[in-house]
Amino acid sequence: MTAAAGPDREAGGLEQPARRDTRLDASIDRYAARTHQLTASAIRALFSVANRPEVVSLAGGMPNIADLPLNVVGEALHTLVLTRGTQAMQYGAGQGEPMLREQICEVMRLEGIVAHPDDVTVTVGSQQGLDLITRIFCDPGDVVIAEAPSYVGALGVFRAYQCEVVHVQLDDDGNGYGGLSPDALREALTALRSQGRRVKFIYTIPNFQNPAGVTQTLQRRRELLAVAEEFDVLVVEDNPYGLLGFDAEPLPAMRALDGERVLYLGSFSKTFAPGFRVGWVLAPHAVKEKLVLAQESAVLCPPVFSQYAVAAYLSAHDWKGQIKAFAELYTERRDAMLAGLTAHLPAGTTWTRPGGGFFVWVTVPDGIDTQAMLPRAVTARVAYVPGTAFYADGFGSRHMRLSYCYPTPERIIEGTRRLGEVLAHELSMATLFGTHTQPGGRALDPGPNANLS
Ligand SMILES: Cc1ncc(COP(=O)(O)O)c(C=O)c1O
Repeated sequence: MTAAAGPDREAGGLEQPARRDTRLDASIDRYAARTHQLTASAIRALFSVANRPEVVSLAGGMPNIADLPLNVVGEALHTLVLTRGTQAMQYGAGQGEPMLREQICEVMRLEGIVAHPDDVTVTVGSQQGLDLITRIFCDPGDVVIAEAPSYVGALGVFRAYQCEVVHVQLDDDGNGYGGLSPDALREALTALRSQGRRVKFIYTIPNFQNPAGVTQTLQRRRELLAVAEEFDVLVVEDNPYGLLGFDAEPLPAMRALDGERVLYLGSFSKTFAPGFRVGWVLAPHAVKEKLVLAQESAVLCPPVFSQYAVAAYLSAHDWKGQIKAFAELYTERRDAMLAGLTAHLPAGTTWTRPGGGFFVWVTVPDGIDTQAMLPRAVTARVAYVPGTAFYADGFGSRHMRLSYCYPTPERIIEGTRRLGEVLAHELSMATLFGTHTQPGGRALDPGPNANLS
């Protein structure tokens, strides 16, 4: 069945076919079981509204690439096409281009990692790195440990491979430090071991965590690695924000502390530009071999042109200075966000104080459900991501992620003002209907480790 979506449009003189109705799916009984978990986000439709200019979006995690020197990038690309275009536009190696892999090792040095380019596999963003790691390690039903809350894109990958995600609580010292708790990790691993279940890896974001904004201290990294060793579990360290610290020098990566147990994911998306889709995995040699085979079967080779472009940018530009400039820009925005939250959010609301990266994690008073509130917030012209997006188990309805990377400081302040009004209204409704006073939190939230029992 087809349904016309309005009059056919003309594009480049060609008549477009009528748009097909996508609600009826003739392939419904043909899909593989793993696709059953691939559900469209309930908030996706709202985000098309949230992207309207009148809405202050504190939802997206888009880096502010308007700050990049586009003339420098343009010149580097121009020279690239003229001087090495035939190589840059050709197929390349499955593992990635040798020159870029060397430069990646230089980048990782900034966080104390001493690595050989042979152990680096270039990927289509670190998102593909996550996909490849999960693909080579996880069978359906395997357990992956992730922070509670965790990066929504990683949860999507784990779901796509039919993994079971067991969340382990993060903590926060109020000054931007915290993260995966070693005690909670040990408890979860002990419980899983007693159930005879094998954990394939621990997925963690040690720096300026997405979505919570917190960073593990050096001491904590060591403690976590000790727990991982005690239970003989691999650690997947996802680190797109590590060089975007505002207040302190980068801490040594977990990979710098343990080269055998840690698989490290890096990305140029936040320190350069996400549009090139260049990330990487640093893994022990044998794992790297498997990753390259998986990479070849997925895409033959990562895009060569993008790799040459990133390599040219790194060679032609003061990229460390550019990262510093990005960090200064985001510091100003983080400060605006924290000032706006202090000024406008109702009593009983708390939030993290990130020392870098893009995100603040907000906890709202008892009785408010951030997912239910989102349509009302968007109507009030402010958007955020509800906390439930960052849990595999339905938890998170008393949380939201706010990002300060993209809007200007003025818009951020205005966004927090609008959010404060919406929250104050929700709170008065919750008080009126008695949901605010329920003891012990919302019954809906089973707690992040509920799926352990
Ligand atoms: C924690 C984390 N990991 C991975 C990614 C994916 O980044 P990339 O653009 O390198 O695929 C993101 C993007 O926001 C992220 O926040």
